[in-house]
Amino acid sequence: MNILVLGAGGREHAIALKISQSPKTNKLLVAPGNAGTSNIAENKAINVNDFEAIKKLVTEEEIDLVIVGPEDPLVNGIHDFFLADEEIRHVAVIGPQKAAATLEGSKQFAKEFMMRHGIPTAAYQSFTSTDIKAAYAFLETLSPPYVLKADGLAAGKGVLILHDLEEAKNELRAMLVDAKFGEASQTVVIEEFLDGIELSCFVLTDGENYKILPTAKDYKRIGEGDTGLNTGGMGAISPVPFADKAFMDKIENRIVKPTIEGLKKDDLPYKGFIFIGLIKVGEEPKVIEYNVRMGDPETEVVFPRIKSDVVDLLTATAKGELDQIDLDVDERTATTVMAVSGGYPEAYEKGKEITGVDQVENALVFHAGTKTENQKVLTNGGRVIAVTGFGEDFKEALNLSYENIQKLHFEGMYYRKDIGFDL
Ligand code: AMP
Ligand code: GLY
Repeated sequence: MNILVLGAGGREHAIALKISQSPKTNKLLVAPGNAGTSNIAENKAINVNDFEAIKKLVTEEEIDLVIVGPEDPLVNGIHDFFLADEEIRHVAVIGPQKAAATLEGSKQFAKEFMMRHGIPTAAYQSFTSTDIKAAYAFLETLSPPYVLKADGLAAGKGVLILHDLEEAKNELRAMLVDAKFGEASQTVVIEEFLDGIELSCFVLTDGENYKILPTAKDYKRIGEGDTGLNTGGMGAISPVPFADKAFMDKIENRIVKPTIEGLKKDDLPYKGFIFIGLIKVGEEPKVIEYNVRMGDPETEVVFPRIKSDVVDLLTATAKGELDQIDLDVDERTATTVMAVSGGYPEAYEKGKEITGVDQVENALVFHAGTKTENQKVLTNGGRVIAVTGFGEDFKEALNLSYENIQKLHFEGMYYRKDIGFDL
């Protein structure tokens, strides 16, 4: 098969690696890709939201299967674009259509979906600028901390957790009235704070059947001990040690099944990955968000653990035949640690030469923000490179991640030395 992966991060490198290892793969393209994907596939300098350019590529290269890595093109309707076009409608697209992608594109839509289908989540109300007084009144009924969420996509920055009522009211005003997150905060969801430990569940569905992929836990804060600003993710572990069989059964019965059923009842066609962000409150799983794609850096630990042929899994997803295929998973633990540019997640410099990748042993290197220039690999983003290790437990796996990340070098490189500290 000829396969195209859309995206440019560590997630897309990890997906492309598995695809490149399948005997079913004939040609593999990544658009736009990074220095890592260029070693295992052919990069094409095309923006993931330039649907016309993607169509041209798909036609010229006779692509059979497209995997959409990030959420933007899905929320913008890339799957619908393919289905609406005679010339490319036969091409399989992994990722939901626009209507279902709204589960990630609008927090309010996601909350209403969960309420409608009895899926456990935090109590909430949503408000626009015309009902700011009612929003203040709702805040007053809650006890701190206060959780404010911009309804729309805000590049992972749209959630504020505030400890003081006055501060919460000020931030709420900034979001609703002063457009703190632009259009994304025209509507704000105010939510009950859930106190517990986070984990993520990944599901691959063809809209009818599903496979629960390995769980993962991601470390979002820049600083050790989970302090400082939120990032895209500084490291991840799979499986999550505290997600035992009893807990996974709860996730499957109370969350995964009603989600798949809900998509069908609401007539939301879905062929792709669902990333369910969860908090374990006591012994109960509650949903904090849906994403309509894989996570990054979670994919860098989830995908390496998949032993089944990923192309078979994706083809079965496209055909609605996921029930006819087994998911085989490596029992070992995988961990990944992300090296980032100095200053990230605030301002940082790009274009620093990365060395030492050839020294890495017994670990996988996934490129995130990198590019090749004059035969050199340079930094090209905030999150730069992730190192994935395997072990009998997360400590053993982390030893390999850390032993190897130390061999890498670029000016300003930083990584957290405490991934897994809370387990
Ligand atoms: P989200 O973008 O919805 O994943 O929110 C970003 C982060 O905010 C999550 O990863 C959680 O750490 C935190 N968060 C979101 N909603 C809640 C909640 N209701 N209670 C506690 N923490 C939350
Ligand atoms: N690592 C979190 C995300 O991909 O959204």
